[in-house]
Amino acid sequence: MPTPVVLDCDPGHDDAIAILLAAGAPEIDLRAITTVAANQTLDKVTLNAQRICSAAGIDVPIARGCARPLVRPLYVAEDVHGESGMDGPSFGPPSVAVVEEHAIDLMHRHMPATLVATGALTNVALYLQRYGSAGVREIVLMGGSTERGNTTPYAEFNIYVDPEAAAVVFESGVPVTMIGLNVTHQALVTPSVVARLEALGPLGQMCEELMTFFAATYREVFGFEAPPLHDPVAVARVIDPSLVTCVEAFVGIETAGIFTRGATVVDLHGRLNQPPNARVAVGLDVDRFFDRVVDAVSRLT
Ligand code: RIB
Ligand code: CA
Repeated sequence: MPTPVVLDCDPGHDDAIAILLAAGAPEIDLRAITTVAANQTLDKVTLNAQRICSAAGIDVPIARGCARPLVRPLYVAEDVHGESGMDGPSFGPPSVAVVEEHAIDLMHRHMPATLVATGALTNVALYLQRYGSAGVREIVLMGGSTERGNTTPYAEFNIYVDPEAAAVVFESGVPVTMIGLNVTHQALVTPSVVARLEALGPLGQMCEELMTFFAATYREVFGFEAPPLHDPVAVARVIDPSLVTCVEAFVGIETAGIFTRGATVVDLHGRLNQPPNARVAVGLDVDRFFDRVVDAVSRLT
């Protein structure tokens, strides 16, 4: 039976591919898409979710969530994702509408399900505070790192934007799987991967345009030869857990550090004497991962 999934995201170039992967993979029953401000403002990431669903013919409800983190001002990643939040392709007006209800109410309507989160965790934390953990089978999130960060030396973007929300999620008792930079930086979209996508008709060409922009900013900002496809790795874990190797560990979220706000302190060796509160990704089958991404996009064309 396909796994019921609600995808909470901030499209975002890699979120866009995560939407396609979740919608195209037969192992997933994509029930709803919710948007959260992070890569760009809520209006922009929501329009981008509409654009992707319109381009791919994905017919699932889309609901707007939080326009800012729980307690901090919004911090966006315009240097990486551009002014629109998904620069590169040109889009016409979306044919897919947004539902009126708030993201957390749409989430609640579709439980029990797995929550896949690929942006800041603001919506997920608010959901847990409003409705509790009942019905949430698992939270699989792209965020954090067992190593260093990408937004500050020790903080990954999604956790950095809303560390208080991340603390709520990791302390909730819900089964959490953390897909961090230590793994997603292995999922590099090389020219051969781009060529495989581009060969898939108009939707594939849209993916090529997304990745071409993403590659340029990742080269300029981070010096990468190819951009890492972060968010789809979280979806891939739901599709086939054997794609992503995980270990149980305690993960502490730094919310008070002067230089370390948003750090995910992953205690791989039990030094803090805290019980494990997450499954933490430590490995990725890169070739099979991209096979699944290409297969999912091909199923949508
Ligand atoms: O650090 C990478 C994460 O931040 C990804 O989810 C990307 O889309 C941005 O949101
Ligand atoms: Ca994202």
